[in-house]
Amino acid sequence: MIVGILKETFPDEHRVAMVPDVGATLKNKGIELLVETRAGDAAGYPDQAYITRGAEIVANRKTVFERAHVILQVRTPGANPDCGKADLAHIRTGQVLIGGADPFTGHEMNRAVAQRGAVLFAMELIPRITRAQSMDILSSMATVTGYKAVLIAAAEVPRMFPLLMTASGTVRPARVLIIGAGVAGLQAIATSRRLGAVVQAYDVRAAVREQIESLGAQFVDLKLNAEQAEGAGGYAQALSEDFYVRQRQALARVVAENHIVISTAAIPGKPSPLLITEDAVKAMAPGSVIVDLAAERGGNCALTQAGQTVVAHGVKILGPLNLPATVPYHASQMYAQNLANFLGLIAKNGVLTINMDDEIVSETLIARNGGIVHERIKEMMQS
Ligand code: NAI
Repeated sequence: MIVGILKETFPDEHRVAMVPDVGATLKNKGIELLVETRAGDAAGYPDQAYITRGAEIVANRKTVFERAHVILQVRTPGANPDCGKADLAHIRTGQVLIGGADPFTGHEMNRAVAQRGAVLFAMELIPRITRAQSMDILSSMATVTGYKAVLIAAAEVPRMFPLLMTASGTVRPARVLIIGAGVAGLQAIATSRRLGAVVQAYDVRAAVREQIESLGAQFVDLKLNAEQAEGAGGYAQALSEDFYVRQRQALARVVAENHIVISTAAIPGKPSPLLITEDAVKAMAPGSVIVDLAAERGGNCALTQAGQTVVAHGVKILGPLNLPATVPYHASQMYAQNLANFLGLIAKNGVLTINMDDEIVSETLIARNGGIVHERIKEMMQS
């Protein structure tokens, strides 16, 4: 079976879907790797590294589509609507596309990919079950995001993170608040702690208290009753507006005590909850920094602009997008391992076996036989 790797075309996307070392491990699954030239350059993986590990490099993108049975991408056309259009004409009936597909919003392009007759797996839909952990691109990329968010904050804030006791006096440690202690939030706590900050963290799901404390941060208990906070798969679910009003008020006091806020609160498939009001920003000390990782889906802060840095009331509010692409070497390595593990599930001895009785397969398969086959996504497309 031939697996093709394309150079990513989304603006500033520096990751690559398969790295040489992980690609080499696919050989014992009967898989040959065909790589578009310079696909790994931006991530730090030159063509020669792929060749040394047994892959074939081809100069022409079209050739990859012509020869590969399976195409691996960081962003299939659904997650790359503008530039991905150019690939549509090359997709062959029965060709398997595996990668990020933006299944909740990339409807137009995902429909177009389906109409080309492709078999499309949206890796964002990997279920949150123990067996699928090693294939979970949302978790691996959130780990990178949480780490990088802290480095961005550290570079922007006019303070140092650690407590320093020097001959020139004592420097007090920076105070960091993490809102939303999912995968990105927990990594942000760990990274802030490693830099020496005093860290507090809050999540609407009370179950994360232990995880926060085990990383050396203080759990912020807002004493709001949010029994319904945890939904399916361990994700948070949307709560009432009355709850969010009380939450914003209670959070404002904690926000004001901190120099850095990293907010990550998200509800799958829905806009992010608004948690930091303009009044809360006003109450922060001048020079404070908010890194809003929810920027892509509306943001947790009222002043966030996606992809921009806003300065308001002496506070910098950053809404960075696609942070994993800014750490492309390791982000690609982790992403590639996720895809290799997934391939291990659907490719046995070089033969593709799509077993719909396996929930990992049925939950991620969104298109097949010319149409959308995933019920939840189909409903979303119709509404
Ligand atoms: P996410 O990216 O969907 O959301 C980030 C965090 O924001 C979550 O912890 C959520 O509870 C929190 N949040 C949502 N609304 C909030 C609000 N109003 N106020 C404060 N916080 C709010 O979450 P992520 O990182 O994808 O993880 C969700 C859960 O899934 C976690 O418990 C994680 O440990 C679990 N998980 C399980 C896996 C598995 O079993 N295979 C794999 C990855 C994660």
